[in-house]
Amino acid sequence: MIKQKLQRILLDASKKIGVDVRDVEISYPLHEGHGDLSTNIALRYANSAKKNPMEFANEILKLILKESMNFVEKVEIEKPGFINFFLTEESLLKELDEVNTKKEKYASSDGNKGKKIVVEYSSPNIAKPFTIGHLRSTIIGDAIANLLETTGATVYRDNHVGDWGTQFGKLIYAVKNWGDIRKIEKSDQPLKLLVDLYVRFHQEADENPALEEKARDEFKELESGFNKREQSSKEQKELWEKSVDLSWKEFEKIYQLLGVVFTENKGRGYSESYFEKDLPSIIEELKKKKLLKKSKGAELVFFPKDKYPPLMIIKQDGTSLYSTRDLATDKFRKAHYGDDVIIVNEVGAEQSLYFRQLFETESLLGWFKEGQRVHVGHGLYRFKDSKISTRKGNTIWLEEVIDEARKKAEKLTEASGKLKEKSNIDTIALGSIKWNDLKRSPQLDVVFDWDEVLNMEGNSGPYMLYTYVRTRSILEQVEKTKKEGGKIALNPEELSILRKLNKYPDIVSQAAKAYSPTVLVTYLYDLAKAFNLFYQRHHVLKSEGSQLDLRVKITTAVGIVLKNGLKLLGIQTVEKM
Ligand code: ARG
Repeated sequence: MIKQKLQRILLDASKKIGVDVRDVEISYPLHEGHGDLSTNIALRYANSAKKNPMEFANEILKLILKESMNFVEKVEIEKPGFINFFLTEESLLKELDEVNTKKEKYASSDGNKGKKIVVEYSSPNIAKPFTIGHLRSTIIGDAIANLLETTGATVYRDNHVGDWGTQFGKLIYAVKNWGDIRKIEKSDQPLKLLVDLYVRFHQEADENPALEEKARDEFKELESGFNKREQSSKEQKELWEKSVDLSWKEFEKIYQLLGVVFTENKGRGYSESYFEKDLPSIIEELKKKKLLKKSKGAELVFFPKDKYPPLMIIKQDGTSLYSTRDLATDKFRKAHYGDDVIIVNEVGAEQSLYFRQLFETESLLGWFKEGQRVHVGHGLYRFKDSKISTRKGNTIWLEEVIDEARKKAEKLTEASGKLKEKSNIDTIALGSIKWNDLKRSPQLDVVFDWDEVLNMEGNSGPYMLYTYVRTRSILEQVEKTKKEGGKIALNPEELSILRKLNKYPDIVSQAAKAYSPTVLVTYLYDLAKAFNLFYQRHHVLKSEGSQLDLRVKITTAVGIVLKNGLKLLGIQTVEKM
């Protein structure tokens, strides 16, 4: 990679000057007038060189020009001390060949080699709807896992399913009193029936608050007998297990549709209940390290200087909480994957404060170092289509969204007159939902506007898939002509594509480093735009000889990068559209 070559050259040059440079930052300027690559080395290290940045930049320049810099056309120093490099056409063409020979491996690198990273995403709750929030987590988390994997990390894909807590007392109470588990099992929408019962519990408890107490008793019964196989809690345990199985039937459908898999605990991930048995040891450790304080019968962790509000670990009635189970989960991860494990939780931004409290607690426990605990939060979905947003209050069933996307994708393919195969419609529908989700930085809310999601123009899934299809159809139509030798001049549109192509591996690394698929989305959209502009202004099929040869190479490379990039985002391509 050109960037690495340049890094080495700059490092050597600074050594010769006698400045202790630890890492050389090289970026890709946004505007082409600032070169293809740019470094701030002179600005960053001017102080330690005891020189002013412009002077220092000149000195470095003198040294590196002596090196073999045959891939650089010209170098410019820009105030207040940037060094900008312009690549030769030859080296850009060489990179083009590199894309076409390495194919999908062009994106791979080993920047994260040796790292073990747990990426936890999706994490829906048993007997509750799989919400749009869980969909976002699934899509973003899966893309992050792909990015980390392709940059060399060993990735563990985990799903922290919410299958424990007092809400199961409510559910069990409701099923026992108002439901019929056998009927629920036979229904084709068991999860919906369970959720209805749960909702009914809340309605009835509003009228009759004594029900809350009853639900707590049910959960206490479940929790106390959980690992002891006590006869007393058999009924509770059975109902709980059935709810888990019925919910998983729905989850599996969704994951299959999305093409998402988990690698841990036989594909189901380590859910909250898995850690039930470890809770006493967590509480013991917290006590031993003097981190627990009693307050009104509950036990909490208070933070130094009240940095955050206290975090409750044990409730007044002695039962555990979400936080208790998260601590047990992370202790297990340390033991299971190694002390140096990195843990990424992809969970809605509404839990940001909670995760800060959790990370702080884990740091007070002395478990992790800086950078080992990461929360990637995402914003909410809001629906522009008021039909969807109001029909069922806050609950949005994912299936409804997917069905709607399917209908629209079908219309889209009808309009183009091609390809009505169901598999393709699903691919377009899901790809569009995913792209729409990943295209803005995750912290932002997503306003879900169907016209935008399935628009053929502009920053959308269909536009991206269509651009890829365009590369395929061009290549299908190309007739082999006799290749003529000789150099041809590159036009600006071709150059612009070449300049983008050679950034690709770096973009993938950046996206992985920042745990941000959006970095890759932005790049792919730019590449697609550049390719479409090139296609508009120049003929591929009508060109000849070495020009045809070059344009075929460019089209092939753009196709490779688009397909691979989309795949990293969890989006499958179609061959026709
Ligand atoms: N099940 C939770 C929810 O739906 C998300 C779990 C996130 N992961 C965690 N380790 N707390 O809100």
